[in-house]
Amino acid sequence: MLVLGIESSCDETGLALYDTDRGLLAHALHSQVAMHEDYGGVVPELASRDHIRRLIPLLEAVLTEATCTRKDIDAIAYTAGPGLAGALLVGASFAEGLAGALGVLTLPIHHLEGHLLSPLLAAERPKFPFIALLVSGGHTQLMRVNAIGDYELLGESLDDAAGEAFDKTAKLLGLGYPGGPALARLAEQGQAGRITLPRPMLHSGDLSFSFSGLKTAVLTAVRNGLGAGTQAADLAAEFQEAVTDVLAAKALAACKANGMRQLVVAGGVGANRRLREKLDAAFSHFRGRVFYPELALCTDNGAMIAFCGAQRLLAGDAPVVGTGTFAIRPRWPLADLARPVLTA
Ligand code: KG4
Ligand code: ZN
Repeated sequence: MLVLGIESSCDETGLALYDTDRGLLAHALHSQVAMHEDYGGVVPELASRDHIRRLIPLLEAVLTEATCTRKDIDAIAYTAGPGLAGALLVGASFAEGLAGALGVLTLPIHHLEGHLLSPLLAAERPKFPFIALLVSGGHTQLMRVNAIGDYELLGESLDDAAGEAFDKTAKLLGLGYPGGPALARLAEQGQAGRITLPRPMLHSGDLSFSFSGLKTAVLTAVRNGLGAGTQAADLAAEFQEAVTDVLAAKALAACKANGMRQLVVAGGVGANRRLREKLDAAFSHFRGRVFYPELALCTDNGAMIAFCGAQRLLAGDAPVVGTGTFAIRPRWPLADLARPVLTA
Protein backbone atom coordinates (compact mmCIF):
# COMPACT_ATOMS: atom_id res chain seq x y z
CA MET A 1 0.00 0.00 0.00
CA LEU A 2 1.29 3.42 -0.93
CA VAL A 3 0.53 6.17 1.58
CA LEU A 4 0.89 9.86 0.80
CA GLY A 5 1.63 11.90 3.94
CA ILE A 6 0.85 15.60 4.25
CA GLU A 7 2.09 17.84 7.05
CA SER A 8 0.94 21.47 7.27
CA SER A 9 0.33 22.15 10.96
CA CYS A 10 2.69 25.10 11.31
CA ASP A 11 5.39 26.66 9.15
CA GLU A 12 6.56 23.68 7.13
CA THR A 13 4.82 22.02 4.21
CA GLY A 14 5.96 18.42 4.10
CA LEU A 15 4.89 15.66 1.73
CA ALA A 16 6.09 12.08 1.55
CA LEU A 17 5.33 8.70 0.03
CA TYR A 18 5.65 5.64 2.26
CA ASP A 19 5.16 2.16 0.92
CA THR A 20 4.19 -0.51 3.45
CA ASP A 21 6.50 -3.01 1.72
CA ARG A 22 9.32 -0.83 0.42
CA GLY A 23 9.52 1.85 3.13
CA LEU A 24 9.99 5.58 2.59
CA LEU A 25 10.15 6.27 -1.14
CA ALA A 26 10.33 10.06 -1.19
CA HIS A 27 9.89 13.11 0.97
CA ALA A 28 9.96 16.81 0.21
CA LEU A 29 9.73 19.84 2.41
CA HIS A 30 9.26 23.54 2.07
CA SER A 31 10.19 25.59 5.12
CA GLN A 32 8.59 29.01 5.56
CA VAL A 33 11.33 30.20 7.90
CA ALA A 34 12.58 32.91 5.51
CA MET A 35 9.03 34.23 5.04
CA HIS A 36 8.28 34.56 8.77
CA GLU A 37 11.76 35.77 9.75
CA ASP A 38 10.97 39.48 9.42
CA TYR A 39 8.08 39.11 11.86
CA GLY A 40 10.08 37.28 14.53
CA GLY A 41 7.65 34.36 14.53
CA VAL A 42 5.03 32.48 12.55
CA VAL A 43 2.23 34.63 11.07
CA PRO A 44 -0.68 32.17 10.83
CA GLU A 45 -2.43 33.77 7.85
CA LEU A 46 0.78 33.90 5.82
CA ALA A 47 1.49 30.29 6.78
CA SER A 48 -1.91 29.11 5.48
CA ARG A 49 -1.53 30.97 2.19
CA ASP A 50 1.95 29.60 1.63
CA HIS A 51 0.83 26.00 2.29
CA ILE A 52 -1.71 26.46 -0.54
CA ARG A 53 1.08 27.51 -2.91
CA ARG A 54 3.40 24.65 -2.00
CA LEU A 55 1.18 21.57 -1.86
CA ILE A 56 0.83 20.75 -5.56
CA PRO A 57 4.51 21.37 -6.51
CA LEU A 58 5.61 19.24 -3.52
CA LEU A 59 3.16 16.49 -4.50
CA GLU A 60 4.65 16.47 -8.00
CA ALA A 61 8.16 16.40 -6.52
CA VAL A 62 7.53 13.31 -4.36
CA LEU A 63 5.72 11.48 -7.15
CA THR A 64 8.64 12.15 -9.51
CA GLU A 65 11.21 11.12 -6.91
CA ALA A 66 9.34 7.86 -6.23
CA THR A 67 8.58 7.33 -9.95
CA CYS A 68 4.89 6.98 -9.14
CA THR A 69 1.72 8.62 -10.37
CA ARG A 70 -1.30 9.87 -8.44
CA LYS A 71 -3.12 6.67 -9.41
CA ASP A 72 -0.63 4.59 -7.40
CA ILE A 73 -1.67 6.26 -4.14
CA ASP A 74 -3.78 3.98 -1.91
CA ALA A 75 -4.34 6.26 1.07
CA ILE A 76 -3.68 9.82 2.15
CA ALA A 77 -2.58 10.59 5.70
CA TYR A 78 -2.63 14.20 6.83
CA THR A 79 -2.02 16.13 10.02
CA ALA A 80 -5.45 16.86 11.49
CA GLY A 81 -4.06 18.52 14.64
CA PRO A 82 -2.79 19.93 16.86
CA GLY A 83 -1.53 23.08 15.16
CA LEU A 84 -2.61 26.34 13.56
CA ALA A 85 -6.26 26.09 12.53
CA GLY A 86 -5.86 27.70 9.10
CA ALA A 87 -2.71 25.79 8.25
CA LEU A 88 -4.32 22.50 9.26
CA LEU A 89 -7.40 23.31 7.19
CA VAL A 90 -5.30 23.79 4.06
CA GLY A 91 -3.64 20.38 4.41
CA ALA A 92 -6.85 18.63 5.43
CA SER A 93 -8.98 20.03 2.62
CA PHE A 94 -6.25 19.31 0.05
CA ALA A 95 -5.92 15.74 1.33
CA GLU A 96 -9.66 15.12 1.45
CA GLY A 97 -10.19 16.70 -1.96
CA LEU A 98 -7.44 14.65 -3.57
CA ALA A 99 -8.64 11.47 -1.84
CA GLY A 100 -12.18 12.14 -3.05
CA ALA A 101 -10.93 12.60 -6.61
CA LEU A 102 -8.81 9.44 -6.49
CA GLY A 103 -11.36 7.42 -4.52
CA VAL A 104 -8.85 6.49 -1.84
CA LEU A 105 -8.80 6.34 1.95
CA THR A 106 -7.88 9.23 4.23
CA LEU A 107 -6.20 8.97 7.62
CA PRO A 108 -6.33 12.04 9.89
CA ILE A 109 -3.11 11.91 11.93
CA HIS A 110 -2.12 13.43 15.27
CA HIS A 111 1.00 15.53 14.67
CA LEU A 112 2.65 14.38 17.90
CA GLU A 113 2.00 10.73 17.14
CA GLY A 114 3.90 11.40 13.91
CA HIS A 115 6.86 12.77 15.89
CA LEU A 116 6.58 9.94 18.40
CA LEU A 117 6.85 7.24 15.75
CA SER A 118 9.46 9.01 13.57
CA PRO A 119 12.43 7.14 15.15
CA LEU A 120 10.83 3.95 13.76
CA LEU A 121 11.76 5.22 10.29
CA ALA A 122 15.45 4.84 11.11
CA ALA A 123 17.42 1.69 10.18
CA GLU A 124 17.83 0.76 13.84
CA ARG A 125 14.47 0.90 15.52
CA PRO A 126 13.41 0.51 19.12
CA LYS A 127 11.07 -2.32 20.11
CA PHE A 128 7.82 -1.75 21.98
CA PRO A 129 7.44 -0.81 24.78
CA PHE A 130 9.70 2.21 25.15
CA ILE A 131 9.79 5.66 26.71
CA ALA A 132 9.52 8.69 24.44
CA LEU A 133 10.75 12.19 25.14
CA LEU A 134 8.73 14.53 22.93
CA VAL A 135 10.39 17.91 22.73
CA SER A 136 8.91 20.24 20.13
CA GLY A 137 8.03 23.92 19.93
CA GLY A 138 4.66 23.34 21.55
CA HIS A 139 5.17 20.26 23.73
CA THR A 140 7.53 18.76 26.27
CA GLN A 141 6.23 15.37 27.30
CA LEU A 142 7.46 12.03 28.55
CA MET A 143 5.31 9.21 27.26
CA ARG A 144 5.23 5.50 27.74
CA VAL A 145 4.69 3.94 24.32
CA ASN A 146 3.27 0.45 24.73
CA ALA A 147 2.24 -0.06 21.11
CA ILE A 148 1.07 1.98 18.17
CA GLY A 149 -1.92 3.93 19.44
CA ASP A 150 -1.26 3.07 23.09
CA TYR A 151 0.44 6.04 24.73
CA GLU A 152 0.55 6.95 28.41
CA LEU A 153 1.48 10.47 29.47
CA LEU A 154 4.02 10.26 32.32
CA GLY A 155 4.79 13.95 32.69
CA GLU A 156 4.84 17.21 30.79
CA SER A 157 5.71 20.87 31.02
CA LEU A 158 3.48 22.87 33.33
CA ASP A 159 4.16 26.02 31.29
CA ASP A 160 6.46 26.67 28.31
CA ALA A 161 7.66 23.83 26.13
CA ALA A 162 11.44 23.37 25.84
CA GLY A 163 11.43 24.55 22.21
CA GLU A 164 9.33 27.56 23.12
CA ALA A 165 11.82 28.42 25.89
CA PHE A 166 14.67 28.15 23.36
CA ASP A 167 12.77 30.40 20.94
CA LYS A 168 11.82 33.02 23.55
CA THR A 169 15.31 33.09 25.05
CA ALA A 170 16.81 33.49 21.59
CA LYS A 171 14.53 36.46 21.04
CA LEU A 172 15.69 38.02 24.33
CA LEU A 173 19.26 37.69 23.06
CA GLY A 174 18.35 39.32 19.77
CA LEU A 175 18.75 36.13 17.72
CA GLY A 176 16.55 35.41 14.74
CA TYR A 177 13.62 33.07 14.35
CA PRO A 178 13.53 30.11 14.75
CA GLY A 179 15.50 30.64 17.88
CA GLY A 180 16.41 27.09 18.91
CA PRO A 181 19.13 26.38 16.33
CA ALA A 182 20.45 29.99 16.56
CA LEU A 183 20.71 29.78 20.34
CA ALA A 184 22.42 26.39 20.10
CA ARG A 185 24.98 27.88 17.68
CA LEU A 186 25.69 30.82 20.00
CA ALA A 187 26.01 28.41 22.94
CA GLU A 188 28.89 26.65 21.13
CA GLN A 189 30.93 29.84 21.50
CA GLY A 190 30.20 30.31 25.18
CA GLN A 191 30.91 28.48 28.39
CA ALA A 192 28.23 27.20 30.72
CA GLY A 193 28.67 27.90 34.42
CA ARG A 194 30.19 31.37 34.12
CA ILE A 195 26.69 32.75 34.62
CA THR A 196 24.43 30.47 36.63
CA LEU A 197 20.80 29.72 35.86
CA PRO A 198 18.40 27.44 37.78
CA ARG A 199 17.55 23.83 36.78
CA PRO A 200 13.78 24.12 37.22
CA MET A 201 12.09 21.13 38.87
CA LEU A 202 15.21 18.98 38.61
CA HIS A 203 14.55 17.58 42.08
CA SER A 204 10.74 17.74 42.02
CA GLY A 205 10.54 13.96 42.33
CA ASP A 206 8.09 13.71 39.43
CA LEU A 207 8.28 13.88 35.66
CA SER A 208 6.91 17.39 35.25
CA PHE A 209 8.87 20.23 33.70
CA SER A 210 8.75 24.01 33.93
CA PHE A 211 10.73 26.30 31.67
CA SER A 212 9.11 29.72 31.95
CA GLY A 213 11.12 30.66 35.08
CA LEU A 214 14.33 29.97 33.20
CA LYS A 215 13.31 32.40 30.50
CA THR A 216 12.59 35.02 33.20
CA ALA A 217 16.03 34.37 34.72
CA VAL A 218 17.58 35.04 31.29
CA LEU A 219 15.54 38.24 31.01
CA THR A 220 16.89 39.39 34.37
CA ALA A 221 20.45 38.60 33.28
CA VAL A 222 19.94 40.55 30.05
CA ARG A 223 18.57 43.51 32.03
CA ASN A 224 21.71 43.32 34.17
CA GLY A 225 23.78 43.84 31.06
CA LEU A 226 24.77 40.21 30.37
CA GLY A 227 23.00 39.97 27.02
CA ALA A 228 25.81 41.07 24.70
CA GLY A 229 29.18 39.85 23.41
CA THR A 230 30.89 36.90 25.09
CA GLN A 231 28.47 37.12 28.00
CA ALA A 232 25.55 36.49 25.65
CA ALA A 233 27.34 33.36 24.46
CA ASP A 234 27.94 32.28 28.07
CA LEU A 235 24.30 32.92 28.86
CA ALA A 236 23.19 30.89 25.85
CA ALA A 237 25.51 28.04 26.87
CA GLU A 238 24.22 28.07 30.43
CA PHE A 239 20.60 28.18 29.25
CA GLN A 240 21.16 25.21 26.94
CA GLU A 241 22.95 23.39 29.76
CA ALA A 242 20.07 24.02 32.17
CA VAL A 243 17.35 22.84 29.79
CA THR A 244 19.26 19.76 28.66
CA ASP A 245 20.26 18.84 32.25
CA VAL A 246 16.59 18.69 33.22
CA LEU A 247 15.44 16.91 30.05
CA ALA A 248 18.16 14.25 30.31
CA ALA A 249 17.65 13.65 34.03
CA LYS A 250 13.89 13.26 33.74
CA ALA A 251 14.09 11.05 30.65
CA LEU A 252 16.43 8.73 32.56
CA ALA A 253 14.15 8.82 35.61
CA ALA A 254 11.15 7.92 33.42
CA CYS A 255 12.98 4.87 32.05
CA LYS A 256 14.08 3.74 35.50
CA ALA A 257 10.60 4.20 36.98
CA ASN A 258 9.10 2.08 34.20
CA GLY A 259 11.83 -0.55 34.11
CA MET A 260 12.75 0.33 30.54
CA ARG A 261 16.11 0.83 28.84
CA GLN A 262 15.01 2.25 25.51
CA LEU A 263 14.39 5.94 25.02
CA VAL A 264 13.12 7.54 21.86
CA VAL A 265 13.65 11.26 21.34
CA ALA A 266 11.30 13.11 19.01
CA GLY A 267 10.52 16.69 18.03
CA GLY A 268 12.62 19.66 16.98
CA VAL A 269 14.65 20.03 20.19
CA GLY A 270 15.77 16.44 19.62
CA ALA A 271 18.15 17.95 17.04
CA ASN A 272 20.06 19.66 19.85
CA ARG A 273 23.60 18.30 19.96
CA ARG A 274 24.16 18.94 23.67
CA LEU A 275 20.94 17.13 24.56
CA ARG A 276 22.08 14.14 22.50
CA GLU A 277 25.51 14.10 24.17
CA LYS A 278 23.97 14.10 27.64
CA LEU A 279 21.37 11.47 26.85
CA ASP A 280 23.92 9.20 25.19
CA ALA A 281 26.28 9.52 28.17
CA ALA A 282 23.54 8.93 30.76
CA PHE A 283 22.07 5.96 28.91
CA SER A 284 25.36 4.24 28.14
CA HIS A 285 26.15 4.40 31.85
CA PHE A 286 22.73 2.87 32.56
CA ARG A 287 23.25 0.26 29.80
CA GLY A 288 20.28 1.70 27.99
CA ARG A 289 19.93 2.99 24.47
CA VAL A 290 18.67 6.22 22.93
CA PHE A 291 17.01 6.27 19.50
CA TYR A 292 16.77 9.45 17.44
CA PRO A 293 15.02 10.14 14.19
CA GLU A 294 17.32 11.11 11.34
CA LEU A 295 18.22 14.80 11.77
CA ALA A 296 16.09 15.77 8.75
CA LEU A 297 13.10 14.02 10.34
CA CYS A 298 13.47 15.61 13.80
CA THR A 299 11.58 18.74 12.87
CA ASP A 300 8.21 18.80 11.09
CA ASN A 301 8.02 16.67 7.95
CA GLY A 302 5.63 14.65 5.81
CA ALA A 303 7.51 11.35 6.22
CA MET A 304 6.43 10.90 9.82
CA ILE A 305 2.80 11.54 8.85
CA ALA A 306 2.92 9.07 5.93
CA PHE A 307 4.62 6.50 8.19
CA CYS A 308 2.09 6.99 10.98
CA GLY A 309 -0.77 6.62 8.48
CA ALA A 310 0.79 3.44 7.12
CA GLN A 311 1.09 1.98 10.63
CA ARG A 312 -2.53 2.77 11.31
CA LEU A 313 -3.56 1.11 8.04
CA LEU A 314 -1.52 -1.99 8.89
CA ALA A 315 -3.02 -2.01 12.36
CA GLY A 316 -6.44 -2.34 10.82
CA ASP A 317 -7.79 1.06 11.73
CA ALA A 318 -10.88 1.77 9.74
CA PRO A 319 -10.10 4.79 7.58
CA VAL A 320 -12.86 6.31 5.53
CA VAL A 321 -12.98 6.89 1.80
CA GLY A 322 -13.24 10.66 1.26
CA THR A 323 -16.77 11.45 2.46
CA GLY A 324 -16.40 15.17 1.83
CA THR A 325 -16.66 15.95 5.53
CA PHE A 326 -13.73 16.17 7.88
CA ALA A 327 -12.62 17.89 11.05
CA ILE A 328 -9.38 19.39 12.19
CA ARG A 329 -8.39 19.64 15.86
CA PRO A 330 -6.12 22.63 16.57
CA ARG A 331 -6.06 21.45 20.21
CA TRP A 332 -5.89 17.70 20.54
CA PRO A 333 -4.40 15.96 23.59
CA LEU A 334 -2.44 12.90 22.49
CA ALA A 335 -4.08 10.97 25.30
CA ASP A 336 -7.38 11.29 23.39
CA LEU A 337 -6.14 8.95 20.66
CA ALA A 338 -7.77 5.58 20.32
CA ARG A 339 -6.53 2.93 22.71
CA PRO A 340 -4.36 -0.03 21.62
CA VAL A 341 -4.70 -1.15 18.04
CA LEU A 342 -1.50 -3.13 17.53
CA THR A 343 1.27 -4.70 19.53
CA ALA A 344 4.48 -5.10 17.54
O1 KG4 B 1 8.96 19.62 16.19
P1 KG4 B 1 9.17 20.97 15.62
O2 KG4 B 1 9.82 21.10 14.27
O3 KG4 B 1 7.84 21.78 15.50
C1 KG4 B 1 6.80 21.69 16.41
O4 KG4 B 1 5.97 20.79 16.22
O5 KG4 B 1 6.83 22.51 17.34
O6 KG4 B 1 10.03 21.75 16.71
C2 KG4 B 1 10.40 23.08 16.55
C3 KG4 B 1 11.14 23.52 17.78
C4 KG4 B 1 11.41 25.02 17.80
O7 KG4 B 1 11.06 25.53 19.06
C5 KG4 B 1 12.92 25.09 17.53
O8 KG4 B 1 13.49 26.26 18.07
C6 KG4 B 1 13.40 23.85 18.20
O9 KG4 B 1 12.42 22.86 17.89
N1 KG4 B 1 14.72 23.40 17.72
C7 KG4 B 1 15.84 23.38 18.50
C8 KG4 B 1 16.90 22.94 17.67
N2 KG4 B 1 16.39 22.71 16.41
C9 KG4 B 1 15.06 23.01 16.47
N3 KG4 B 1 16.01 23.66 19.79
C10 KG4 B 1 17.25 23.52 20.30
N4 KG4 B 1 18.31 23.12 19.57
C11 KG4 B 1 18.20 22.82 18.26
N5 KG4 B 1 19.28 22.42 17.57
ZN1 ZN C 1 6.26 19.22 15.25
